[in-house]
Amino acid sequence: MTAQPTNLSGLDLRAEIDRLRKERKAVILAHYYQKPEIQDLADFVGDSLELSRKAAATDAEVIAFCGVKFMAETAKILSPEKIVVLPDLDAGCSLEDSCPPDQFAAFRAQHPDHIALTYINCSTEVKALSDVIVTSSSAETILAKIPPEQKIIFGPDRHLGGYLNRKFGRDMLLWPGVCIVHEAFSETELLKLKAQHPDAPIAAHPECPAHIVDHADYVGSTSGILNYAKATDGDTLIVATEPHIIHQMELAMPGKTFIGAPGADGNCNCNICPYMALNTLEKLYLALRDLTPRIEIEEGLRLEAKKSLDAMLAMASGTVGQGDLGRP
Ligand code: 13P
Ligand code: SF4
Repeated sequence: MTAQPTNLSGLDLRAEIDRLRKERKAVILAHYYQKPEIQDLADFVGDSLELSRKAAATDAEVIAFCGVKFMAETAKILSPEKIVVLPDLDAGCSLEDSCPPDQFAAFRAQHPDHIALTYINCSTEVKALSDVIVTSSSAETILAKIPPEQKIIFGPDRHLGGYLNRKFGRDMLLWPGVCIVHEAFSETELLKLKAQHPDAPIAAHPECPAHIVDHADYVGSTSGILNYAKATDGDTLIVATEPHIIHQMELAMPGKTFIGAPGADGNCNCNICPYMALNTLEKLYLALRDLTPRIEIEEGLRLEAKKSLDAMLAMASGTVGQGDLGRP
């Protein structure tokens, strides 16, 4: 059950989190879509691949995972001996929700000559039904290693799958899931914004639909977008992904301007991930204090899911991300 933040007034949450982090021998991992106050006190901020690698390698006794449930479950699959807590257990993902394991199993059974290459944004059960997991930063490296004649099912994100199909000339069968956050960007509003800033390049996450990605100068994972922001000339960048990543850009490049790509009415908050937003400093404090809500996974299921994650980590070796804030 998710801890309820009550009676915490008067507490210096940052100091308390710091104290508990040491007491519990905990590491705080945070995704780029977390609120700035969480990113700022995390030991490590990164994309899905980097966070998986950190979770697999850490010698901490507790992992406080500030992200969504599939990410915390990945940490538990890779580090079963650790206590893994997620500040809010309701922090899910629309892509995971779009892909119920029984329906995915039936789809696989209909295509026995296909392997399942599956986006990490899915349940542990779907990982256990898959052959190789990919993240947005490892998908291209991994797909390039799979022979062109091999038939592939790609799920659950049809936009990432479609982008990979177009880029690599593949015809992977796509599961029809979408990210509600990236789906909400408006092409009309993006073009209006671009007209106001004609020299600003557009960087987009591959979870965006084709009508957004087609206008992008760069397409890549959250870390990829951050690296692109650092490498590209010019003082303004249009960012078509969840806007909390702009916090890291502003920290690293205070002289540049970063503009979040607009949603349908040009000014909505529809591109803020409602699941990521459930985590708060209060809930993180309670999670460290009470060591709950905890991620628990049945051992047989964990071992099955680990096979497809291990395949990803092996096939993605050499894929470099960016996200280390320099703390141990
Ligand atoms: P990244 O792996 O690029 O960080 O993406 C995670 C995610 O959920 C994007 O919506
Ligand atoms: Fe899932 Fe989209 Fe939120 Fe990422 S941004 S966690 S894909 S709902």
